[in-house]
Amino acid sequence: MARKKIIAGNWKMNGSLESNEALLEGIFAKIESNNSLVIVSSPFPYLGQVSELIKKSPISLAAQNVSQYVSGAYTGEVSLEMLKNFSVEYVLIGHSERRTYYNETDSVIAEKTKAVLESGLRPILCIGETLEERQSEQTLDVCAKQIDAVLNAVDVSSFENIVVAYEPVWAIGTGLSATAQQAQDVHEFIRKHVATHNASVAEKVQILYGGSVKADNSKELFSMPDIDGALVGGASLIVDEFVGIIKAAG
Ligand code: 13P
Repeated sequence: MARKKIIAGNWKMNGSLESNEALLEGIFAKIESNNSLVIVSSPFPYLGQVSELIKKSPISLAAQNVSQYVSGAYTGEVSLEMLKNFSVEYVLIGHSERRTYYNETDSVIAEKTKAVLESGLRPILCIGETLEERQSEQTLDVCAKQIDAVLNAVDVSSFENIVVAYEPVWAIGTGLSATAQQAQDVHEFIRKHVATHNASVAEKVQILYGGSVKADNSKELFSMPDIDGALVGGASLIVDEFVGIIKAAG
């Protein structure tokens, strides 16, 4: 069975009440019926606004992070129950910016992934190698290690509900996308790695590519057999770019 494509926009720490509305209205006006799942991931303060704006649209809502804890004395953190109040369905976990700037380790990321699954939401688990790791031919080992940290915490069957996003760190925000073949090679490896635990789950797991995805390189990426969509940063803030990517997914 064909896997549904997912186009997820990660707004990162961008936006305002005015610009969020203009962006979403622009997308609604240009998006036609399409077969993919479209997700936008706004900063926490705008989840309420965005959830209202997308209510009558087919767009789903993601948060960019969440606490692994249920509630209590964790100043500055946001819980899964809070996200549920705003109809959030997906949560980005382990984005490389969180791994790098906020020291999120594989074990914290595994805990968060487990908590998201237990709450009934779906994690978008971000993995990927740095330039140094690619140059020293560690790409596949790094990706396997990042996936294994989660496989140690949850049953492999959970990967039917985990969306994996392969985002090579060197391609994020640099304008230097992985080639479609480079991305396909890693996606195929990730699927085979999951298949060593459970082949039927591996067939179902949706694996997105992220890193300088634009309207004009998306079609080739999406033509690859193991690329099931994209996690888009900068281009998700530009109506024509994001809509172009959605259209490329068919
Ligand atoms: P860019 O599309 O801006 O390279 O960002 C990718 C990303 O980090 C999405 O999570």
